[in-house]
Amino acid sequence: MPPRPRSFAFCGGAYGDEGKGRLVDQYVSDYAKQGPVVVYRDNGGSNAGHTVAFDNTKVALHQLLSGTFIKGVTTILGKGMVLHPGDLLEEIATVKAATGGTVPAKILIDEMAVVLLDTHRAYEAVLQDFQTGNRGTTGRGISPAYVDVLLRHPIRMRDLKPFNKEKITKHYRLYQAMCAGLGQKLAEKEVLTLAGPKQVIGSEAAFLKRVQAQAAELEQFISGVFDVLQRAWTDKKTACVFEKGQGIGLDVRWGVYPDFTASETTFSGIFSSTEGIVNPRDIEIRAGVIKATYMSSVGIRKLPSAMDEALAHQIREDADEYGATTKRPRDVVHIDIPSLSFFAKVGDVTHLVATHMDIVYKDTPIKVCVSYTKNGKTVPYRPDQKYLNTVKPVFKQFAPWDVVALRKAKTRAELPVAARKYIAFLEKAIGVPMLMITTGPKREEGILL
Ligand code: IMP
Repeated sequence: MPPRPRSFAFCGGAYGDEGKGRLVDQYVSDYAKQGPVVVYRDNGGSNAGHTVAFDNTKVALHQLLSGTFIKGVTTILGKGMVLHPGDLLEEIATVKAATGGTVPAKILIDEMAVVLLDTHRAYEAVLQDFQTGNRGTTGRGISPAYVDVLLRHPIRMRDLKPFNKEKITKHYRLYQAMCAGLGQKLAEKEVLTLAGPKQVIGSEAAFLKRVQAQAAELEQFISGVFDVLQRAWTDKKTACVFEKGQGIGLDVRWGVYPDFTASETTFSGIFSSTEGIVNPRDIEIRAGVIKATYMSSVGIRKLPSAMDEALAHQIREDADEYGATTKRPRDVVHIDIPSLSFFAKVGDVTHLVATHMDIVYKDTPIKVCVSYTKNGKTVPYRPDQKYLNTVKPVFKQFAPWDVVALRKAKTRAELPVAARKYIAFLEKAIGVPMLMITTGPKREEGILL
């Protein structure tokens, strides 16, 4: 079957924070000039983060989708997401403050999406104190909320509309008992909120009152979304854009333990979240976004392509390599082709987008890990830290390009020769064509190849 025209999906091609939001925003606003647009997200929650510039204000979005600031666009927060009602209301209020009153896009929250509450965040912190479970997470309660699904007691958005007091009371009591089992008092725990100040969980009554008030405010956005999605997907005039959270290297199945998130970060998650309406294989362009000249991540993983700290520090400062949600400094390593090819394969990506093409330094060759060896033999990437500790990176060097000339280019042919050679190398080595590169954070600093 030919791919569905006007359909586009973006995922992180490595460890997240590659700058997907800005690309989605760009595609959505271009499509919005031509006709109706639906933007859909199927995974993660407030562990994601990206900044959208609106007029002269910058707004950090975590759960709301790129396209929220574009009038007429429909954004769908899908079944596969884990959503925190308090944070959502906070984000909606921030968007309204930036626009001077209303949210330009339509927000639809799937009634089947999972509700993530302060109880999940508290329990994640309790696990961390117990020195298990929560190692290096964003602290947003993501895993406990997904675990609720596996344990067959998730709270779904439809439990907030109408407010299911009995179910949410039981939820509080369960988390209270789990925290007590690990020697802590749920009511006294303090957790992160998007608004800044920490939130004390409080007594059962206080917790229920808070969630009920949030539910009442959120109700207007909660509905069944499958009819809307089915109609949009069938009507070829509607552009359908899929925005994934995180990156393939953080996938629950493909990530390196323990630095992965609890959701499906590959396009395959779209199939289950849309209950089969959208087969990701039918999406015309499935782009994996990578950083052109290096890789970065947060966590305790040790990637084979370690970089000299002086260069890593320089890149961290120049490219603002600090976690979008947690502000933690990211580890910076040389670009690693064995892992990126693996991610492209398991993620089923059809195209690459390379961001940060401007992060190159005159007289400093770009060092690329082109393969791994073990006992003198070439070996592949595998998502297993113990295994990765045993492989040796093989590096190849590429000439840097002139950033001024890079920024002047509007087409592939106008790019400096060294940049063109490097892009051709990435395409061949990863086995996927390059759709676009970016040379800076602004909208106009992108070149379609
Ligand atoms: P969690 O998603 O909070 O459970 O965190 C699990 C791991 O994924 C941690 O190493 C996080 O730093 C990482 N992570 C989660 N979301 C993102 C993201 O949007 N960008 C980059 N890293 C992320």
